[in-house]
Amino acid sequence: MKPLHLPSIRAAFPALASDCVYLDNAGGSQVLRRVADRIHDYLLTTSVQLGASYAQSQRASERVLAARRAVAEMINAAHEDEVVMGAATTALMFILTQALLPGIKPGDEIIVTNTDHEANIGGWMRLQQAGAVIKIWEVNCDSLMLELADLDKLLTARTTWVAMTHASNVLGSVNPVAEVARRVHALGGRLCVDGVAYAPHRLVDVQASDADIYVFSFYKVFGPHYAVLWGRRELLLSLPSLNHYFIGPEVLPYKLQPGNVNFELSWGCAGIGEYLQEVGSSLGALGSGRQRMQAAFDAFAHHEDQLAEQLLSYLRSKPGVRIIGHDRVTDGNRMPTISFVVAGQQSEAIVRHVDKSGIGIRFGDFYARRLIEALDLQTQGGVVRVSMAHYNTAEEIARLIGCLEACVSRR
Ligand SMILES: Cc1ncc(COP(=O)(O)O)c(C=O)c1O
Repeated sequence: MKPLHLPSIRAAFPALASDCVYLDNAGGSQVLRRVADRIHDYLLTTSVQLGASYAQSQRASERVLAARRAVAEMINAAHEDEVVMGAATTALMFILTQALLPGIKPGDEIIVTNTDHEANIGGWMRLQQAGAVIKIWEVNCDSLMLELADLDKLLTARTTWVAMTHASNVLGSVNPVAEVARRVHALGGRLCVDGVAYAPHRLVDVQASDADIYVFSFYKVFGPHYAVLWGRRELLLSLPSLNHYFIGPEVLPYKLQPGNVNFELSWGCAGIGEYLQEVGSSLGALGSGRQRMQAAFDAFAHHEDQLAEQLLSYLRSKPGVRIIGHDRVTDGNRMPTISFVVAGQQSEAIVRHVDKSGIGIRFGDFYARRLIEALDLQTQGGVVRVSMAHYNTAEEIARLIGCLEACVSRR
């Protein structure tokens, strides 16, 4: 496989021309120039209401539909109308759980994890008001994994939903969602997957995931603050409409997009798939758009693994450092999101020290508060998290390591 040509990759992201080292990518990635250009162009040339008969409105409608098609291709949706767009993953999760509320029967069991971002927990918790029973699939504090054996103890014939993350935004671990789907479906339940921490690093394939709902945010995947919820067609059709009374339950996906989508951000997001396909082509990949996107992500994963191992090997060599997650890059199952704590030090102090060098990392619980509490790390101010993207370089990681040396070697 050809390696990524980092100068051309970085040139696609104008912000990377600055001196800042962006290593808070799991918080939000940098934006592609082409995405910003498309948003700008949409606003200045086709900012009219959709669905009218005049030419400009027709053109705007075509753009918004084309954007949905592009997102459907990017995630491998079987049908375009399975793609629901919205403001944020959190907002889409509240829309989903609000739509599920009338169908909840007392005693229905819903399993959430204590490793997820709260976006995939809070909405489910609120279903308790309709009598749902919430069970927590807890992280194994030794392996720092969600163990399937622990899930098996929670699953019953009354399990209606399991909500879990594809990749943890703190631990960096990838969960076997297709295997979970198999177990949940065998009991007649459904699976909802938060793909926010996965989508910047691997090509999402909603069909292969075998989930029933899959959600992620574009601002972590080189785009704007905007998000997508994919749902299986027959499931989405079974939900009530959350839109006006005259927009019935058969009107997909509009019934779950009250007030409509953001047109310009939709159009902008179509630039992400375009970029991924161009990177794939530049690496010599041929074939369908998804095959070329796959080649891009294969190269991203290879590069990101090297960057992750560069930092992990340094952290492993420091006796006072505890890596919160797998301490090695293992068989493609670790995202380059690396959390750690340093004995006797507040995580905030380390990050504030690094801030002074123009390197953006951060500390805290990252809204995976239940995980940080389960690991008893809240009194340390949570973890220090370094999160990489494919555009980061070995030199940037070396600069970070140079900076960390002053804090992590102090004993
Ligand atoms: C894993 C994960 N899920 C969900 C979210 C929430 O996404 P949004 O800000 O789009 O609601 C985040 C944001 O950090 C996240 O990291």
